[in-house]
Amino acid sequence: MKILVVGSGGREHALCWAFKQSEKTEKIFCANGNAGIAEIAECVNIKPDEIAELADFAETSQIDLTFVGGETSLALGIVDEFEKRGLKIIGASRQAAQLESSKSFAKDFMAKHNIPTAKYKTANSAEEAKEILQRGLFGDENAPVVVKADGLAAGKGVVVAQNRAEAIEAVSGLENLVGKKATEKIVLEEYLTGKEVSLLMFADGKNFALMPPARDHKRIGENDTGANTGGMGVITDTNLLNDEQQNEIIKKIIKPTLNGTKQEGFPFCGILFLGLMMTATGAKVLEYNVRFGDPETQAILVRLETDLIEICQAMLNQKLDNTIIKWKKGSSVCVVLASRGYPYKVAIGDSINGLNDVAAHKQVVVFHAGTARNEIDEFITASGRVLGVTTAAPNLNGAINRAYNAVSQISFNGMQFRRDIGN
Ligand SMILES: Nc1ncnc2c1ncn2[C@@H]1O[C@H](COP(=O)(O)OP(=O)(O)O)[C@@H](O)[C@H]1O
Ligand SMILES: [Mg+2]
Repeated sequence: MKILVVGSGGREHALCWAFKQSEKTEKIFCANGNAGIAEIAECVNIKPDEIAELADFAETSQIDLTFVGGETSLALGIVDEFEKRGLKIIGASRQAAQLESSKSFAKDFMAKHNIPTAKYKTANSAEEAKEILQRGLFGDENAPVVVKADGLAAGKGVVVAQNRAEAIEAVSGLENLVGKKATEKIVLEEYLTGKEVSLLMFADGKNFALMPPARDHKRIGENDTGANTGGMGVITDTNLLNDEQQNEIIKKIIKPTLNGTKQEGFPFCGILFLGLMMTATGAKVLEYNVRFGDPETQAILVRLETDLIEICQAMLNQKLDNTIIKWKKGSSVCVVLASRGYPYKVAIGDSINGLNDVAAHKQVVVFHAGTARNEIDEFITASGRVLGVTTAAPNLNGAINRAYNAVSQISFNGMQFRRDIGN
């Protein structure tokens, strides 16, 4: 089969890598890819928001299966366009993608379908948001409140404010931070406490199949300090959720969500990602994403034993219930190596050393997030997040040790990473 993966980050490298393991794969294309992806796929210079061009490419290149990495393409309706043209594609429809592309849509959906989540109020302007905060809807002036831009904001649209004054300041700054369109509405939320878990699943409109639970590490600094990033590392580990918790999540969150999407006329097909807070009163949904996470994908796919193409075919035929999906037992870790300056203004163009040494370990995979080649064909840094050093092992400590051993072999000027992923 000819496969097209849409996107250009570490997540898409991991998807190409997983497709590459399949005997059914004849050739992989990636739009628009990166230098690491180019090792295993043909990179095509079409951007994820160029929906008609992507569909034209899939038609003329006779692509058998397209897999969409990120939310931008989904929110723009890539799946609807491909399906209209009879092209096979895995991803959420434009309507279903609203669960991610509009936080107020997602909150109203959860309220309507009785899905546990933080209390909230949607404001239609910054002024209204400030009024709501002044009225004290979420406690007195010392209570923390969460301020969220409604629209897609690439992880920059949420501020956890420690008190009312900070929340008001956050509301004032939000438009500058993420733009006018994403802040046409602002969602204010009750502050929840607990441990966060990401639970992803394949869904085919009728059935779902869970992936191993994951935990990301969003802050740049060790012990979860400093600025928020796209993600500095992830672990997957069965112990992140016990059976009782998982069963409760299935009953109170997953089934009502998937049934809700059917009732609303957009049965969910694709990858559904639950951002959960495990509170003292049970699991609550922080957010939905309608696609794989980055770097969750890297850590999840290194544990996948079943052929990804078979899973995709089962999804397209609504036969996930007849498909046994096998995962390597134990844990996995992905440690992100980032450029100097990340997550602010980053320095790029530095050559990367040690990749060949790590390639000698069969049990470690280095996914490229932002790399390019220089004139003498070396890999160089090309964006904030550069590499994701990823490995699976029978237990978490084994995975952590193996990942950091590999990290110690890689270097580039100003390389940043957290030493505490998984701790
Ligand atoms: N209601 C809440 N209470 C406490 N923390 C929250 C709440 N909502 C979000 N957060 C924190 O903010 C982070 C980002 O929020 P999220 O809704 O996942 O937005 P996004 O991933 O789109 O930036 C979460 O991972 C969590 O740490
Ligand atoms: Mg999130």
